[in-house]
Amino acid sequence: MNICVVGLQWGDEGKGKVVDILAEQCDMVVRYGGGSNAGHTVVIGDERFALHLLPSGSIRGDVACVIANAVVLDPEVLIGEITGLAERGISLEGRFFISENAHVVLDYHKKEDQLREESLGKHKIGTTIRGIGPCYADKVGRSYAVRMGDFRDLDALSAKLETIMAYKNKLFGALYGAEPTEAGAIVEKCKLYAEKLAPFVTDTTELLHTAIEGGRSLLFEGAQGSLLDLDHGTFPYVTSSNSSSLGLPSGCGVPARMVNKYIGVIKAYTTRVGAGPFPTEQDNEIGNFIREAGNEYGTTTGRPRRCGWFDAVAVLYGVKIGSIDSLVLLHLDTLSGLKELKVARAYEIDGEEKTFFPANIARLAKAKPVYETLPGWDEDLTGVTKFEDLPANAQAYVRRIEEIVGTPVGMVGVGPKRSQTIMR
Ligand code: IMP
Repeated sequence: MNICVVGLQWGDEGKGKVVDILAEQCDMVVRYGGGSNAGHTVVIGDERFALHLLPSGSIRGDVACVIANAVVLDPEVLIGEITGLAERGISLEGRFFISENAHVVLDYHKKEDQLREESLGKHKIGTTIRGIGPCYADKVGRSYAVRMGDFRDLDALSAKLETIMAYKNKLFGALYGAEPTEAGAIVEKCKLYAEKLAPFVTDTTELLHTAIEGGRSLLFEGAQGSLLDLDHGTFPYVTSSNSSSLGLPSGCGVPARMVNKYIGVIKAYTTRVGAGPFPTEQDNEIGNFIREAGNEYGTTTGRPRRCGWFDAVAVLYGVKIGSIDSLVLLHLDTLSGLKELKVARAYEIDGEEKTFFPANIARLAKAKPVYETLPGWDEDLTGVTKFEDLPANAQAYVRRIEEIVGTPVGMVGVGPKRSQTIMR
């Protein structure tokens, strides 16, 4: 059984916890896109693991982990995570594989991300400044790109970096008046990266196909959320990869039909970090309540997240483009204490009611949510283990979401721990 887990909102849905639970029944966990802009938090017992690049399943000692071709990999971050796990007694030896075709994020990508965002002023995207967009741009541009396979031949890589830095220095100087950077310093860093990471580099497409042919169970882990997808999200306020499940086939070389089940992760409300349209945003005491109750601050950047009501139009879109079979609804406990809850079941755009999400931001800017109001509950849900034991209004809230989105909710989260998950 091969499963894909993907976020259906603007990221931060809690995929890390879901992957960690499902990894128990899997042989291999695969990251197929994004980079260290992602932040996956997993809580086991009293220990909190925050991972940006390693698949969330990596904390389970018996699961193989793959970083596939469409991931943009920051070696510094990855080495930090490998070391962090080793310090906690978790070894990746013999069970970790990096695609030779994955592109490498280097210092000049992070510099470019920052310089570009600063120069955009009020039009900035609000990126994580992790060099994601510039690295993907170099990949598409082809001539100035570094891939993990390049770490196998350091002489060739040094020559390539000389050419790249000559180009980048000219570009950054002309556009932003930036000081040049010596290629030598980056070459030295790459030598260290190669020493630590080259042993893990391989042809992951072959590895994945061999695993599937051998009857292994694979878990594909999406990063960010479907509404941040470069092609299908709220462009330009998106990330630079196909973060919906549509990115899976090209992101790791496994065809979509080889995946048996697509699971969509959602929060019981909506959040967004960075700029861009957000029809159900509550920039008021409701939004503040959700942010504090749900600890809605970025795992990667620490930024306060924008918070709002559950947007069923946006989630239904994620379900449709993502071929989603079932939902995992997290953070239900966060809503305890709100008198009433609103759910956007449609948008009104130019006087017309629409239930298909317009990803085009000019149309989305005109969308007025059409809300349904449901009664809230006061009870603390964090100790509830059975769906039937949830307050009647909480059960009704989940059921109504299932109805509007037309997809069953298979798991409900009532707290950050693995144990605080209700299976249905
Ligand atoms: P970038 O991916 O750093 O280029 O950022 C582009 C947009 O995606 C910004 O609005 C970021 O806040 C958002 N973003 C990137 N990664 C995540 C994530 O893991 N969770 C939520 N938002 C993200």
